Amino acid sequence: MTTDNPFRVGLETERIPDACVFVIFGASGDLTRRKLVPALYNLAASRLLPPGMSIVGFALTETTEEQFRQSMRDAVGQFSRRKPIDEAVWGDFVSRLHYVSGRFEEPASYTRLREKLEFLDKTNGTRGNRIYYLAIPPSVFRTVNDNLAAAGMVAEEGGRYARVVIEKPFGRDLASAEALNTDLHKVLQEKQIFRIDHYLGKETVQNIVALRFGNAIFEPLWNRNHIDHVQITAAEDIGVEGRGKFYEEAGASRDIVQNHLLQLLMVTAMEPPVAFTADEVRDEKVKVLRALKPIRGDDVKRLTVRGQYGPGNFAGQPVPGYRQEPNVSERSTVETFVAMRLEMDNWRFAGVPIYVRAGKRLAKRCTEISVHFKNVPHALLTQGAPGPGADGSRIEPDVLAIRIQPDEGITLRFAAKVPGPSMVLRPVTMDFRYGSAFGGSGPEAYERLILDALLGDPTLFARADEVTAAWRLMTPILQEWEREHLADLPIYPAGTWGPPAAFELIERDGRAWRRL
Ligand SMILES: NC(=O)c1ccc[n+]([C@@H]2O[C@H](COP(=O)([O-])OP(=O)(O)OC[C@H]3O[C@@H](n4cnc5c(N)ncnc54)[C@H](OP(=O)(O)O)[C@@H]3O)[C@@H](O)[C@H]2O)c1
Repeated sequence: MTTDNPFRVGLETERIPDACVFVIFGASGDLTRRKLVPALYNLAASRLLPPGMSIVGFALTETTEEQFRQSMRDAVGQFSRRKPIDEAVWGDFVSRLHYVSGRFEEPASYTRLREKLEFLDKTNGTRGNRIYYLAIPPSVFRTVNDNLAAAGMVAEEGGRYARVVIEKPFGRDLASAEALNTDLHKVLQEKQIFRIDHYLGKETVQNIVALRFGNAIFEPLWNRNHIDHVQITAAEDIGVEGRGKFYEEAGASRDIVQNHLLQLLMVTAMEPPVAFTADEVRDEKVKVLRALKPIRGDDVKRLTVRGQYGPGNFAGQPVPGYRQEPNVSERSTVETFVAMRLEMDNWRFAGVPIYVRAGKRLAKRCTEISVHFKNVPHALLTQGAPGPGADGSRIEPDVLAIRIQPDEGITLRFAAKVPGPSMVLRPVTMDFRYGSAFGGSGPEAYERLILDALLGDPTLFARADEVTAAWRLMTPILQEWEREHLADLPIYPAGTWGPPAAFELIERDGRAWRRL
């Protein structure tokens, strides 16, 4: 029996998925090595892969099954969260791995793939059930879907299922995302499409839902009467790490803001769903996006900031600027930093600004959501050191901070009396840390999401309307930026918190970015 609650703890599930063949398109690529196969191995180690399930790698590179298995062993050895490799688990896992070489554009490749899958059905009892994981460049999403459909490989008939997991980026703007949805819907039903956003598979992101809807104390405060503003930061300290070609096409808005950052916002701001079922949860999430005030025309300059890292220092070492990175144009105008001031037009959050920022080569790696509560209505008490050092300033408002990475956890900052003869207060924190509370590290996001795809639970995947609503917000901003002159792209030194305009964006409202 399955549980309807998608936010169940860890990976404990009452149902082992039905056996299927899991086909990875792009099996010689970076994502397969670093994330997918290590996640599948860890699911095997947790005994969550059904007996008989096979994994078939499909890519252009010609390689033997033996070589493929060896390279996947190397990948698991390097990237799995469980180390060293457990030989008993590997012994079972490796027998599930197969490889077919082919060209995505070539129908004959699908005939070969299909024959292989049908052979595995016969030997392993997978009964025609399929997951197709598209770990491939977005330019070939359509080609692969169309060819799968033409080869009769996505039809769900006779009780078998066929699901397609699609990696990000899903479109480049509203028009391309809509066109991609339309094309996918020509050959697949929405329930067959699993658009992955790995942030939703993170334990801490699901914990936002647990915090809000599993406790009685927070939700009554979760509105404009008590919240002054919200900040969401997704900061990376690394640069583009050899992925310059990809980043030149994406930039921070497409790489992280349109998807991950808006997902964090949706989970933070959504209304409690009627039930924890896929459609109820996603209905509430998409309402958040619909409630965001559009940012267009002159507002883009006022409410958004972009920037690009120049040369700087990180951990005492000089690091190159974005334009000096391999495969990046020396005149690139791609943004590596974005900050925005968003506002929602709805009953709960009207008038509560949401400041978001994301970027590469910032001072620290940290993804965090902080909810800043309103100050006390009357300054009865002051803060500062006791005695003559008391500074007499107003108490700092309470902050609830949810850290997504690293050191996953939740911190509540509030005021406490400093011991001593005077009534002087100081901010203190109450800390919950995932690692110490539950011991060890939890499953990786990809483990959770692959398991959900196997179980046919799309709750933690983006629905068609969710993706287009996110693009509806971002597209006018991107268009306005494209119209702007190169000189309007501020360069910030690597290892800092972005351009001065990002500070001005929040400081002109009398607020400040939280020190991370
Ligand atoms: N890497 C990451 O960390 C990451 C993170 C999030 C999302 N993603 C997304 O995941 C997807 C894959 O990324 P990646 O970094 O793994 O890409 P990648 O390293 O460039 O791998 C692409 C794969 O697609 C195969 N391929 C490309 N064109 C083909 C064709 N015409 N016929 C047959 N095979 C073809 C390649 O095969 P050959 O090598 O044999 O040519 C390779 O296996 C992208 O959508 C990306 O945006 C990646």
